[in-house]
Amino acid sequence: MTQATAHALLAMGRDSFLPIYKPREMVLERGLGSRVWDSEGREYVDFAAGIAVCSLGHCDPELNVALLEQASKLWHTSNVFYSEPPIRLAQELVAASRFAERVFLCNSGTEANEAAIKLVRKWASVQGRGPERRVIITCKGSFHGRTLASVTATAQPKYQQGYEPLPGGFRYVDFNDIAQLEAAMAAGDVAAVMLEPIQGEGGVMPAAPGYLQAVRALCDQHDALLVLDEIQCGMGRSGSLFAHWQDGIEPDIVTLAKALGAGFPIGAMLVGAKAAQAMQFGAHGTTFGGNPLAAAVARVALKRLTSEEIVANVQRQSQALREGIETINGELNLFTEVRGRGLMLGAVLKPQYAERAGEMLDLAVEHGLLLLSAGVGVLRLVPALNIRDDEVAEGLARLRDALQAFVARAI
Ligand SMILES: Cc1ncc(COP(=O)(O)O)c(C=O)c1O
Repeated sequence: MTQATAHALLAMGRDSFLPIYKPREMVLERGLGSRVWDSEGREYVDFAAGIAVCSLGHCDPELNVALLEQASKLWHTSNVFYSEPPIRLAQELVAASRFAERVFLCNSGTEANEAAIKLVRKWASVQGRGPERRVIITCKGSFHGRTLASVTATAQPKYQQGYEPLPGGFRYVDFNDIAQLEAAMAAGDVAAVMLEPIQGEGGVMPAAPGYLQAVRALCDQHDALLVLDEIQCGMGRSGSLFAHWQDGIEPDIVTLAKALGAGFPIGAMLVGAKAAQAMQFGAHGTTFGGNPLAAAVARVALKRLTSEEIVANVQRQSQALREGIETINGELNLFTEVRGRGLMLGAVLKPQYAERAGEMLDLAVEHGLLLLSAGVGVLRLVPALNIRDDEVAEGLARLRDALQAFVARAI
């Protein structure tokens, strides 16, 4: 593509899309593993992975084969007819989950959470609880999506402003504060607690040790469902297939998306015994959910993301990234800590740099690195889970150069 074509495309994009995004002024053209190239042939190491989506990098050969084979057989059936890939995927998700009995397949994270919110309400109603006793508690700093209900679950005013009236029946507590949760549940009107085991958009904030266990105990005490949003932290990213495995608890509902499709849109809600029968025929639905193309890709992704090879790689590259960032910090003194688990890491900027993450992302791109931020003042690293040693080393070298350029400019 010529530079003129790229510029014309960018102008078209600016004029055609609803102006809700601010994409970088570059056109990405192709990718391979953890590298991508733009329309002008510039190459980047990818620590962003399409916001924690491309779990097996770009254009993985096995995923390509699965997609192309399915594409030449059957694309879509709707939920009025069965096809093989979604049936097998649902069964494999149940088996992998260690808790679920049933699965609902959809197309995105927000749809998975919308389904979970509706399921909680239906479950409570089937039990004879009136609407006033169907409260869902979520955590401040969370991100659960953009539909009206999931954005209401997202306890961050900036995502909600202007969309009022918001659906009722949500209550917010501070993440990792068990005393506050206990007080918020005391009235006995809570049907569910919904949270991310590692908050993603909120700034890569893991649940404190023991927190999820205490939440589980409170849910049991008040007969409330525990809904875990593992849309960003799930599917191997945290170092285990599900992040909550590391907390030793069993949830009632888990929502997935992002890494599950490895770049092909899909979402899933996994439901345990307690609520698996609450929604019956006609209670919910979607035309595209469980599309054979998406399911065929997700089956391969699930198999690979469950493999010992990927689990070991996540641990290995997590350590390499942590050590690399610590080394950079030893030289440049920009961060207060590196937090997160597995390949979901946040480098927390010192307060004086907290508002300047955007500049660092710009410099990263200039130095050939795709990087994200999260919350306020956190650089977020969520690369592919099969990222290789050489890609991590090169990405770190570019990060160091970008941050050195920032420091040279900042002082
Ligand atoms: C934890 C979490 N939940 C839900 C969502 C919403 O997913 P989607 O953008 O696919 O609707 C996101 C997206 O970033 C997320 O990180």
